[in-house]
Amino acid sequence: MRLLVLGGTHFLGRHVVTAALERGHDVATFTRGVSGAPPEGARALHGDRDDPDALPAALDGWAPDLVVDTSCQTRVAARNAAGVLGEARGYAFVSSLNAYAAWPPGPIGPEDGEPTWTTDDDEYGPNKAFAEREIGAALGDRFLTARAGLIVGPHDPIHRLGWWLDRIARGGPVVVPDALDQPIALIDARDLAGWLVEMAEQGRGGAVNATGPVGMTTLGGLLETCREVTGGAAEWVPVPEPDLLEAGVEPWVHLPLWLPSDVAPTAWDVDTARARAWGLPSRAVVESVADTWAWQQANPRPRVPPHRQAPGLPPELEATLLASR
Ligand SMILES: NC(=O)c1ccc[n+]([C@@H]2O[C@H](COP(=O)([O-])OP(=O)(O)OC[C@H]3O[C@@H](n4cnc5c(N)ncnc54)[C@H](OP(=O)(O)O)[C@@H]3O)[C@@H](O)[C@H]2O)c1
Repeated sequence: MRLLVLGGTHFLGRHVVTAALERGHDVATFTRGVSGAPPEGARALHGDRDDPDALPAALDGWAPDLVVDTSCQTRVAARNAAGVLGEARGYAFVSSLNAYAAWPPGPIGPEDGEPTWTTDDDEYGPNKAFAEREIGAALGDRFLTARAGLIVGPHDPIHRLGWWLDRIARGGPVVVPDALDQPIALIDARDLAGWLVEMAEQGRGGAVNATGPVGMTTLGGLLETCREVTGGAAEWVPVPEPDLLEAGVEPWVHLPLWLPSDVAPTAWDVDTARARAWGLPSRAVVESVADTWAWQQANPRPRVPPHRQAPGLPPELEATLLASR
């Protein structure tokens, strides 16, 4: 079938393209063309999805049967997609747990009982929730919204797990939060990508929490896996939360994937019964970590976009924390 990926050149979308090609689809991507090219075998269509005329011009009569939308970040992009792609047989949209008004900190129960944002704020979560409503109204029960949690895997440009891999591989004393037992859930981009294509093929509709199961690992388990995979001789130097905060360490950013104690116990307590029932796979954490490390060693580190703070502990902050132990 003709499958259009809105996105497709960066991370998750790239894996969607690969999965769709493997499943025999005639694949096109639609991007501005600034983040590179899609995997070989897909036709690359170009335009800005915030421009209402760009998508119809690029499609030029090529009407997709299926759509996987990994790139929607604005309300106007959602409106434009709803206006042009309402006839698709299946539309799988990548949303976020941030679409829920209660996340973070969560917990998040079954999808149908959890309110999403309804405010007009031009922010990530409310914009995703708006896009779900807007495109969902055009497609009806052929619209699936996958509210993704933390996505990891090869080609990850955000470099949170990647920073830990680099730091742990370098070895020596490594500052870690004294909260290694905090739970964490993640989803491998390749698992999510293949499943999104299948969901679009089936014309499956509804909302689904798209992440790994509760209890899949902990922050400590993930860092231990990084140590195993990199073979690094790193030693953990656990630092209590009050000391980290006093030193100016920003949770999630300076120590990527670490959440403060008021959020950590519930943030990854997300009901994924529907995702499991609908066949969303969840590969072993060690496979995601090992493949990310292999990809990272063979590729330059991602360039952090200007609007984003680079993840990781600045060396001077690390030195201060280590000196105080
Ligand atoms: N990473 C996480 O942990 C996480 C968690 C929850 C949800 N999500 C969601 O998951 C999705 C994953 O994104 P990804 O970066 O992996 O997807 P991707 O499809 O691999 O990359 C984003 C694509 O969007 C294109 N794009 C950006 N702005 C555009 C515009 N105005 N018009 C047309 N194309 C545009 C980019 O190409 P050009 O730059 O060339 O235009 C790029 O191909 C996002 O929707 C994100 O909100 C991510």
